[in-house]
Amino acid sequence: VIDSKTPAIDPNDRFTDEVALRWKLKEKPGEYEATPADPDVDPGVDETLVNPLIGASIQGFQKGVEGLAKEHGATFEEISHGLRKLIEVAEEEPVMLHMFLESMVKPVFFPDVPGESMMTPNDTEGPVYFPGAPEISNPGALPMRPDEPGTPLIVSGQVRLTDGTPLAGAELDIWLAAITGHYSNTELDDQPLFNLRGRMFTDEEGRYEFRAVKPVPYYIPVIPDGLMKILRGLGFSKFRARHLHVKIRHPKMAEEFTTQLYFKSDPYFKYDAITATRPDAAALALETELHDDPAEIAARGLDEPFETAHFDFFMEPANQAAAAA
Ligand SMILES: [Fe+2]
Repeated sequence: VIDSKTPAIDPNDRFTDEVALRWKLKEKPGEYEATPADPDVDPGVDETLVNPLIGASIQGFQKGVEGLAKEHGATFEEISHGLRKLIEVAEEEPVMLHMFLESMVKPVFFPDVPGESMMTPNDTEGPVYFPGAPEISNPGALPMRPDEPGTPLIVSGQVRLTDGTPLAGAELDIWLAAITGHYSNTELDDQPLFNLRGRMFTDEEGRYEFRAVKPVPYYIPVIPDGLMKILRGLGFSKFRARHLHVKIRHPKMAEEFTTQLYFKSDPYFKYDAITATRPDAAALALETELHDDPAEIAARGLDEPFETAHFDFFMEPANQAAAAA
């Protein structure tokens, strides 16, 4: 593998750690098997450990590299650099790298095909969900401070099964970041506990309406530098697009449903690392309407213009999941 193309080892490069490790092993004679028990008859292979998927994975990887070289002119140095960056990210923040790689793998097995299913697309939960948010009335407002900054946003709609049956008594669990870009319960700012987090139940027609504030795009401070470089290289923003998180639960549903609602007019929407690669992301984008008529504002008990959005959720029924399994 090491040939004349291999770049000289940079003394500042962390990969010299690998060299150090090799020397450490040399310092520990007897702690590992240095030579086979019988070099003439023992090939040192345990056939029971052979997994053809591992060989196929390596071949797939090589094919990918070949494609990069032949179709995109990638050089050996560029590929090596990319590998080093990936390993650096793995060292820096393995969980974030896992989430990123999983999002690349998932579409192969669970393709997002727009229009194929009526089901509302699900979306990642994210790291800041906290169970046990206060229950609010329906229609109602999420717990918030009297002077909560941000444009008031009223979201309403219906929760139904994919066959059209309205889901009465479905539990909506909603959470979003404040205008600071931080979530309550994370102690990253001075929001009260469970600020902008609430649970509500749909009425007998499956309808819901809640007031929040329009969320802002926010920076994800936990993304390690290395992964951020990869995301920037893919043309993604370092900000998440404006979004609200929602979970829905009901005994007639196959399982708890988790998604995020976005905003069609948000310029960050198409550069968000989570939504940019999803062909069905548009199905999660809200269209908002601004209301600045003083009478309408007063009728809502507000003192500033507000926005409204409508969104109907279509959930997979429990029996359908059983039939498909
Ligand atoms: Fe979020």
